[in-house]
Amino acid sequence: MRTAIVTGAAGGIGEATAQDLARWGWRVFGFDLRAGESTLLPSDLAGFGGSVEPIRVDVTDRAAVEAAVAAVLATTGGTLDAVVANAGIRVAGVFEETPFAQIRRLFEVNLGGAMHVTRAALPALRATEGSRVVVVSSVGGLSALPGLAAYCGSKWAVEGWAESLAHELHPLGVGVAIVEPASVRTGLWDRGAVHGDPDGPYAPLVESVEVGDDRAWARALDPASVSATMVAVTEGRRGLRHPVGLTARARFAARGIVPAGVQRRIISRLTHQAPSMASPRNPDGVIIVTGCSSGFGLDITVELARRGRRVAATMRDLARRGPLDAALAEAGVADRVEVLRMDVTDPASIDEAFAQADRWVELAGDVGRIVGLVNNAGVVSVGPFEELPPAEVGRVIETNLLGTLAVTHAALPRMRPHGGRIVCVSSSSGFGGLPTWSAYAASKWGVEGFAESLAFEVGPHGIDVALVEPGAFPTGIWRDDSWHGYPGGPYAALAEAMADADRRAAELGGDPTVVARAVAGCFSGGLVGGRPWTRRPVGRGAWLRWAARGVVPFGIQRRIVARMLG
Ligand SMILES: NC(=O)c1ccc[n+]([C@@H]2O[C@H](COP(=O)([O-])OP(=O)(O)OC[C@H]3O[C@@H](n4cnc5c(N)ncnc54)[C@H](OP(=O)(O)O)[C@@H]3O)[C@@H](O)[C@H]2O)c1
Repeated sequence: MRTAIVTGAAGGIGEATAQDLARWGWRVFGFDLRAGESTLLPSDLAGFGGSVEPIRVDVTDRAAVEAAVAAVLATTGGTLDAVVANAGIRVAGVFEETPFAQIRRLFEVNLGGAMHVTRAALPALRATEGSRVVVVSSVGGLSALPGLAAYCGSKWAVEGWAESLAHELHPLGVGVAIVEPASVRTGLWDRGAVHGDPDGPYAPLVESVEVGDDRAWARALDPASVSATMVAVTEGRRGLRHPVGLTARARFAARGIVPAGVQRRIISRLTHQAPSMASPRNPDGVIIVTGCSSGFGLDITVELARRGRRVAATMRDLARRGPLDAALAEAGVADRVEVLRMDVTDPASIDEAFAQADRWVELAGDVGRIVGLVNNAGVVSVGPFEELPPAEVGRVIETNLLGTLAVTHAALPRMRPHGGRIVCVSSSSGFGGLPTWSAYAASKWGVEGFAESLAFEVGPHGIDVALVEPGAFPTGIWRDDSWHGYPGGPYAALAEAMADADRRAAELGGDPTVVARAVAGCFSGGLVGGRPWTRRPVGRGAWLRWAARGVVPFGIQRRIVARMLG
């Protein structure tokens, strides 16, 4: 009998999928916090040959997930035909007014949960012919949506991670599928109240999300109609992405074809968002930059200062400020830059840095205001997902993705009263997954979905959000200890070929200061109607991947990558 683990199986899409798989003869293990609450009666499955066995487990608890998967494998003799990573929560409303603990929880469930169960199951999936990983994303993983900045960030992250996984697992015979349902009538909506003050600065957004939710609920799909697709992909339907419902199919078709700015205007109109205002250039305020001890962050600081901007250059370890100080002195702009300590993974240090910025306003008035933010701090850790230490995956997600969200969360109340610009240094990895890059791709896709969605809510306050996406450039990020994996392991050949390709790409990447110029350009007069582009790939590789995204079918991209890696 074929066996599957389905997470979030006590309700909604997970429950419908578990039951339908059982009707198709599968033995299903339903992981859920509320295991046992299913409405399914054993008699419902009489005569079908399949079963659903509930197992109580919190998908955010990695050790508990590992133990639960081990218990499943003990009963199946070590084989497993499918993992359906479905558990998810939704946090809706104003990003700035949503407690950060809830945002963190959202990522732990939607991204961390999918990662934990997949990692624990991978050895068994590899050992089972024709096995599948099915990941439930959302229409919010295909396009940005207003009032759902963190939710879209989490679903985009899942998409980038799963796309990378699809490259890695295909040669080993494990298929990967992503299902993107439009609005579905499930408990996901009941539990998620809309965050935000209905009388506060974001009142129109709060109202539009509430009205939009009511409308979406009225025409939401039945979970049973999604489970038909879920069963089909679990049973082997080909293709990576499977949008379900009209809006999801439309967003899927628009990906990569309709520019982000145009999509934003259409979605804004359809969801009745307040019109966005062009962000003022604010030449006198302060631009805060993260990760300035080296690489792009250092160059960005120097370039902004050269262009006459005041910069708060932050870094997690002030003992590493020497190269920045030297570069500023050489450019003769040291007087424009204040160096502060900020570790983007440490909330206390973020608060401290912003408290310092608040003191500048007390001392200098408008000249001390924060008018710009560059989310640049980042780390790389690559390797086959199954062999990448969980702590490394956590470090990448915490720094690149949650660090960006946390610093933006702290900056927004300081910028909203007067407007400004936020630039996120993403990556060409935010355009497409690649083998061994699953954690990093998740982090950068998450930043992309978050930034694009945030633009809806901060646009009416005169804040523009831009993404700069560099290809590979030779900076300090390429450390020898960035590569992980077992030399004799099942992914060894792929990982080695990929590591060689990465090193070559970084060496050939050219002068990294072009990235600094692209970022600094976002704070200049503006490019489109006085505003920065939403996306700005930098480097040939980045432009190529940007052009391929959503246009070249994933199957073809996978074959090209496989051929290039030999
Ligand atoms: N280089 C590339 O090929 C490339 C391509 C695409 C995108 N990117 C992105 O560009 C950004 C900058 O990278 P880079 O290439 O300039 O690499 P880099 O030279 O290693 O710079 C990364 C910076 O981030 C800092 N950082 C790391 N963890 C931090 C934390 N927890 N809190 C605060 N700062 C932290 C590092 O500080 P420490 O010195 O303390 O480690 C360093 O200053 C990253 O977001 C990266 O993902 C790079």
